Amino acid sequence: CGILGIVGKTEVSARLVEGLKRLEYRGYDSSGIALLDQGDLKRVRAEGKIKKLEDVLENNQVEGACGIAHTRWATHGMPNETNAHPHIAGRVCVVHNGIIENYAEIRDGLSGKPIIESETDTEIVAHLVNENLEQGMSPVEAFGRSLKKFRGAYALGLIIDGNENQLFCARAGSPLAIGIGEGEMFIGSDAIALEQLTQKLVYLEEGDWAVLTPDGYKIFDEKDQEVSRPITHLQDNFIQATKGNYRHFMLKEIFEQPITIGQTLATFLDEFGNPSKGFGKVEFSKYKRIYIVACGTAFYAGAVAKYWFEQVAGIPVEIDIASEFRYRKPVLEEEGLFIAISQSGETADTLAALRHAKGKGVETLALVNVTTSTMAREADIYLPINAGPEIGVASTKAFTSQLTALAAFALNMSEQKKFLDKEHLAKLVKALTEVPDIVGETLQLDGEIDKMCLGLSHAKSLFYLGRDMNYPIALEAALKLKEISYIHAEGYAAGELKHGPIALIEPGTPVIVLAGQDPLLEKTVSNLQEVASRGAKVFLVADKKGAEIVGDIAEQIITLPDCDPFTAPIITTIVIQLIAYHTAVHLGTDVDQPRNLAKSVTVE
Ligand code: G6P
Repeated sequence: CGILGIVGKTEVSARLVEGLKRLEYRGYDSSGIALLDQGDLKRVRAEGKIKKLEDVLENNQVEGACGIAHTRWATHGMPNETNAHPHIAGRVCVVHNGIIENYAEIRDGLSGKPIIESETDTEIVAHLVNENLEQGMSPVEAFGRSLKKFRGAYALGLIIDGNENQLFCARAGSPLAIGIGEGEMFIGSDAIALEQLTQKLVYLEEGDWAVLTPDGYKIFDEKDQEVSRPITHLQDNFIQATKGNYRHFMLKEIFEQPITIGQTLATFLDEFGNPSKGFGKVEFSKYKRIYIVACGTAFYAGAVAKYWFEQVAGIPVEIDIASEFRYRKPVLEEEGLFIAISQSGETADTLAALRHAKGKGVETLALVNVTTSTMAREADIYLPINAGPEIGVASTKAFTSQLTALAAFALNMSEQKKFLDKEHLAKLVKALTEVPDIVGETLQLDGEIDKMCLGLSHAKSLFYLGRDMNYPIALEAALKLKEISYIHAEGYAAGELKHGPIALIEPGTPVIVLAGQDPLLEKTVSNLQEVASRGAKVFLVADKKGAEIVGDIAEQIITLPDCDPFTAPIITTIVIQLIAYHTAVHLGTDVDQPRNLAKSVTVE
């Protein structure tokens, strides 16, 4: 979910709605804004994307110099208008990101037993602050006292009817920043929300809360002591990307990859092609083990990197899905390096895992795309992948930049540890520098892939198979297809299918075999035969050698350009992205903002 708030002296509603659009990556199930119009509280909400809110606002204008806005990814309660934020109780209006875990307990403790309108945990915040006001507390006291009762994770923005000059906010678990303007102050879930309003930000720390007026702000810590927090100046001007001539952001981002991968390479390879630039003076050779933690697509980047780190740098790698990591009580070595991979740098599960590792005394590194993100600020070491803003909810260019950065990272570690001989290392570095051109060539397969997808779009269920590094790419391929086409898809290690899932193969079931630069090609081809002989419709994505061996058994073969096996997962990725994209377009789904998803999920 995303939060934005402004307290100023002029009309703010248009800027709140504009700002919400920048926060839509955090969810788009419903949205709403509330303003104090000459002190009077006015609210408009709508189910669905921000566009729906704009439509409602056209006939229902609200104005005011103080307001809060929210875009939601549903946790408690259906994504309908009643559950949309802001929530109001009496004089109090609130927006919230996170979860108030003890909301039922607070509800039961409210003295007036008020009617709760929504199914959310958030509404209770408004009720509690309102009850405190009714008991005669000042707005500041009513807000500060209420915070002591909440358990869980929250970022809050709050305004009070009749109290036009104050905007309240608080942070515990979920990030929140204050923006400093001229005669106006802002709050926002992150820098992305605020960067068009101001370049001066103050990040609240855990347990902080604040009172903003048009001319200033006061921050208090969890013990209610007034504190001062450093001001950050936004340097990067991350301009909101436009679609250009492309039909969707996702397609534009797929086609941008020769450039974005080049940007990532420029970040990590120096002018002599040595993979040392961008890693600072970090002594990677001192670590005995790597712990990789991430969610979704970023997790699969980590799964490929496990092969790279182990094969070229000889360092053992453990990899966890972020939401599992800390709860499985992992045994962590202090000589280990914890790597969080996250496009947004805000994903709550990954952030919690990073904090857990830090708490255990393990050095932490964040590999992120958004440079102003919480993970970038909290990790001991931070590496930017420099893929530029990614707008499509399904991650594409951030994934290939994560892969590129991780490959450079593994080579850097290999160099520091002198794990490979010089020639071998030089060959792999050269292969990495060739990736942008080969990605460009691979993109020319677009038309061929589109044709293949017309047939795939009728499938009820589909399988991706791969061995070695093609295995995590098969998992990512299935995820991509699920995310945007809503077709049920599974990725399997090619050798594992026979141990159960092969029972799902029926005559005509599409199976896409990824076998580009496959070190175990013959075994993969046997697995392909196993499904073909049970009637599966087999599609092959492979290099020339694989294409020759498989020949007529496959319904269609997508032949990849030549590349080194080390970089093959990046090249194969381009094909699986285009398969997901074209299948979704044939089905007419909302490619850039698929149902039920958020680009970054900021609740655990
Ligand atoms: C969400 C998105 C996924 C994404 C994952 C991790 O669930 O829908 O596409 O891969 O979060 O996001 P991150 O920003 O941490 O890479």
